[in-house]
Amino acid sequence: MKKKLLAMMLTCVMAVSLAACAGGDESAAEDAGAAGETAEEDAGEDAAEAEGETEGETQEEGGVLVMATNAEFPPYEYYEGGEVVGIDAEIAAAIAEKLGMTLEIEDMAFDSIVTSVSTGKADMGVAGMTVTEDRLQNVNFSDPYATATQVVILREDSDIQDVAGLEGKTVGVQLGTTGDLFAEDIKDVTVERYNKGFEAVQALSQEKIDAVIIDQEPAKVFVEENEGLIILDEAYTVEEYAIAIAKDNTELLEQVNAALAELKESGKLDEIIGKYITAE
Ligand code: ARG
Repeated sequence: MKKKLLAMMLTCVMAVSLAACAGGDESAAEDAGAAGETAEEDAGEDAAEAEGETEGETQEEGGVLVMATNAEFPPYEYYEGGEVVGIDAEIAAAIAEKLGMTLEIEDMAFDSIVTSVSTGKADMGVAGMTVTEDRLQNVNFSDPYATATQVVILREDSDIQDVAGLEGKTVGVQLGTTGDLFAEDIKDVTVERYNKGFEAVQALSQEKIDAVIIDQEPAKVFVEENEGLIILDEAYTVEEYAIAIAKDNTELLEQVNAALAELKESGKLDEIIGKYITAE
């Protein structure tokens, strides 16, 4: 690990083109700004990050497994006391443990995750991310670890009765999500895109928009936290959540699938999900 870092630094020093080094600087600055960063900003972490960013690198025992996420999505990923927790964080930690690696979580905009993974900045995207044809153009997905549906959140006093009633209305979504895709398809709709799902829900409470389309589990959390909101009793779709991995990193894909299979087999996956979602 050390050797590799040294080699990388040397390459940077020797590179005639400044651009090669600037690339590294840029991501370092980005990393420092990431809200998910904990206090241990020592040299060791920098080294680990540099390694995590090496493109096409194979995962090794003792290495760092970088997870890209958007921690605005309870109960899958959200902040608790400055730390990213939730179903995805725990699944990723369990996978890292099986691989003998240290998990590092990078919080970013949801619509940056696929790029971050496909360019090798992060090793895997774990973000309640639905497998879609579109995303499959850029990344591979692991076997699914959860199913989900999109739902509609309304104000209690709304005159909207069903999904068809969204026609001509103003609908809020989190930018780049499957909810965003569905909203686009509604006839005569105005789509308001927010960086965080929670911001869409707030806008709904404040009567700035008529409805929010979002995944069911975060919808439940947001409705519980905000008075006067309800979830429409009509599910939109069935989707599958899976882990996004760079197309050229088939080794990690296999490792993650093997780890997931073990977690399913041992009951650990159900245990993690059950900790955050109570069965109806
Ligand atoms: N399942 C939806 C999608 O894949 C929403 C995921 C949003 N996740 C998040 N961590 N904010 O588009």
